[in-house]
Amino acid sequence: MVSIPSQDGLKICCIGAGYVGGPTMSMIALKCPEVQVKIVDISAARIDAWNSDNLPIYEPGLHKVVTACRGKNLFFSTDIDEAIQEADIIFVAVNTPTKKVGIGAGRASDLTYWELAARRIAQVAETPKIVVEKSTVPIKTAEAISAVLHGAGKTRFDVLSNPEFLAEGTAITDLDNPDRVLIGGQLDESGQKAMDTLADVYAHWVPRDRILLTNVWSSELSKLVANSFLAQRVSSINAISAVCEASGADVDEVARAVGMDTRIGPKFLKASVGFGGSCFQKDILNLVYLCESFGLPEVAHYFHQVVHMNDYQKERFVGRIIHGLYNTVTGKKIALLGFAFKKDTGDTRESASIDVCRRLIEEKAQVAIYDPKVEEEQVWMDLTYACKMDKTEVQKYVTLCPDALTACKDAHAMAVATEWDEFKELDFHQVYDTMTKPSFVFDGRNILDHATLREIGFVVYAIGKPLDPKLSTA
Ligand code: UDX
Ligand code: ADP
Repeated sequence: MVSIPSQDGLKICCIGAGYVGGPTMSMIALKCPEVQVKIVDISAARIDAWNSDNLPIYEPGLHKVVTACRGKNLFFSTDIDEAIQEADIIFVAVNTPTKKVGIGAGRASDLTYWELAARRIAQVAETPKIVVEKSTVPIKTAEAISAVLHGAGKTRFDVLSNPEFLAEGTAITDLDNPDRVLIGGQLDESGQKAMDTLADVYAHWVPRDRILLTNVWSSELSKLVANSFLAQRVSSINAISAVCEASGADVDEVARAVGMDTRIGPKFLKASVGFGGSCFQKDILNLVYLCESFGLPEVAHYFHQVVHMNDYQKERFVGRIIHGLYNTVTGKKIALLGFAFKKDTGDTRESASIDVCRRLIEEKAQVAIYDPKVEEEQVWMDLTYACKMDKTEVQKYVTLCPDALTACKDAHAMAVATEWDEFKELDFHQVYDTMTKPSFVFDGRNILDHATLREIGFVVYAIGKPLDPKLSTA
């Protein structure tokens, strides 16, 4: 049995109660009953939701973890200053979106929220703190944050990088059984002590040999590299899906054959309409920006291609719909099944569905959207932003439906953009009966039984599969 030094009385605070902060801190509270964990946020609505039965994010298993600890050693609050003052360790898990304006726009991370949080910490902290970067940040952030903290603060701060590797939809199992925990810090005595304190928190449930201590730059860079490599695999198989369609090969068969090479492995080789999520594109663009600023244009170009390929894949999917429907979708009803960027989450950030829908709107199609978890207001926010239209204008083209069957009624085509399990269970005979003929299915996730659909009468397109002879490709 590994012995963990007692952390009785240790107080942890997390600034930012989002997809990263909420689940991660809840797991720490569950695994470390003697540690007090307080999650704070500037959004009172978010905190109220965390304190209610209707949590602000959908994540399988999360509700159980939160209810097991809430009110005991897990607290949600808007009193940021008090939480900072009390804490020994302060995690910062605020949002770091890609910059929209200014230097590095479209590439670099916007660190406004991070800096505001750091300045708040500097202003109110009276006793030494360990400050932990949890949000995805560009490398050298720890250095910048350290400068802000030490410049404006009145106590000692040890800044650590502790990137989060959880994937949405599987966050709880990922946190419960992580492949590794990465902690980067300064290699002086104080930095080492801070890293050991944080490592002891994780050692409550993570084997020591999976807790990696590195210098701070390695830790920050590893997160960007891990996500870039994962995204690169998806873009690689998506690029091959185009070759499969041209050659008659089947992308799932190719992925299986290739993935059985133990040097390559089977994961992240599922061809799709394109990857989404808050991390992949942002992290690659961060890496690209970093390489450009280091004067490494070849490296920047190499990774940028992963994003270009993803854009190409989304456009290719829309192209298949348009060509399949005899080169026009104007006025035609398309049922778009799934709006989240993957199944088992209500998160839509960078979801391929947004771009698919935007393009269909540009072609003046009538899009009927159904997603089991995405909030209606989120869809309107995403589409008004993506289409640069106001809500009333978007509503001329888009309707939101309470279920898949309603979305498909009278539709010329059904397009699957998210791999929700329930889409596999639909009664396709009934769906077929209600759709306009000929009825098309565009399976952007390769989750449906294409042979059965064809037997029913559908014309089916699936990513990277031999083309249906009835599908127009002109
Ligand atoms: C990712 C990383 O996996 C995680 O380690 C990091 O902490 C955050 O970013 P996440 O974005 O939540 O997690 O989901 P992930 O499962 O990685 O999927 C990302 C996107 O790639 C989704 O749109 C998914 O549908 C797509 N994808 C994934 C594929 O299209 N094919 C695959 O084989 C795998
Ligand atoms: P992530 O996926 O990185 O967790 P989210 O957007 O889900 O990102 O969550 C980030 C959270 O951080 C939001 O709830 C936001 O209100 C909160 N936040 C942003 N800036 C601050 C700040 N300065 N102080 C406290 N909370 C903040």
